[in-house]
Order: sequence, then C-alpha cells, then structure tokens
Amino acid sequence: METSEQGTSRAQGGPDRGRRWLLGVGWLSFLTSLVGPALANVRFLFPNVVYEAPPVSKLGTPEEYPVGSLTFLEGPRVNVFRDADGFRAVSAICTHLRCTIGPYGPADGEFKFVHSHCPCHGSVFDTFGKVWRPPAPRDLDVYYIGVGPDGRLFVDTSRPVGKDYQLKV
Ligand code: FES
Repeated sequence: METSEQGTSRAQGGPDRGRRWLLGVGWLSFLTSLVGPALANVRFLFPNVVYEAPPVSKLGTPEEYPVGSLTFLEGPRVNVFRDADGFRAVSAICTHLRCTIGPYGPADGEFKFVHSHCPCHGSVFDTFGKVWRPPAPRDLDVYYIGVGPDGRLFVDTSRPVGKDYQLKV
C-alpha cells in the first residue's frame, strides 16, 4: 500500500525522476563517447594526402613527339620513347631498390646501344627496359600507352604490358 508521502514524492517526480534523469545522462555520455572515436575511424579512411601519382598520365597528341624523341614523365617516373615503330612507355624506376634511373645516353665502349645507368648501384638498362648489368634483378616495367578520345596520348601505370608492346600510330 502506498503511503501519502510516497504518492506526493512520485507526483512531484522525486527520487525516481532523479534516477531516470541520471541514467539518461549516463547513457547519453556513454553514447557520445562512442561517436567521437567512430567518426575518427571513418575520417582515418580518407587521408589528406595521396602520395602515389595517379595511374593515368596525359601527354600531348602523337604528332607532338618526333620520331627518336624521349619524354620523361616526372610524376609516374616513366620514359616515353617514340621511334619509327611507335610509342612505348618504360618505367624509370629501378627494379633493385626503386631509385630513378639516370637519363639515357649514347652507346659507349662498354654498351653498344643507348642505355641508362641507375645512379644508386650501377644497374644498366636499354630503351626496352632490359637489364644489362645487375644488381637489378629483372627488367623495367613497360606500361600501356594509348590514345584517348581527345586524341591525346596517355600512359596507364596500373596496366603493365609485355616487353614488346608498342602503340602504333
Ligand atoms: S637501386 Fe638501381 S641499382 Fe640499386
């Protein structure tokens, strides 16, 4: 049986109301403490800086590159060769420890063809990416090069191709 004091206390919201309010504040604090870290984790999925070069690099139209020309793309570190047979895109990243290989130079006493020396440990590559002197363990990568709908060349470093791939134009 309810006493008149308890009845008055409930009517005014007494101890029960206070407990409910405190419980509500507790739950609210708990849930709020979960939201912050959850948002921080979601934010962590989207870094402020993208360190890798985008895989597709645009160049000019094929006519802008004379036969015999060599164009170095600094961002993706790719050499684009134009010769009588067409275009090819050869990585300039050494397969030993990823140094950027040096500029291509003419034949010399040791190598009877146009070649490049890696400045880090001396590997030598030809213009098709073939390694002629270690320590590089394998040939340079060759990437897809094509002509986009806008008539401009592009190189896609996410699409490695065979060593003999050339874009005929
Ligand atoms: S990084 Fe090129 S030879 Fe070592």
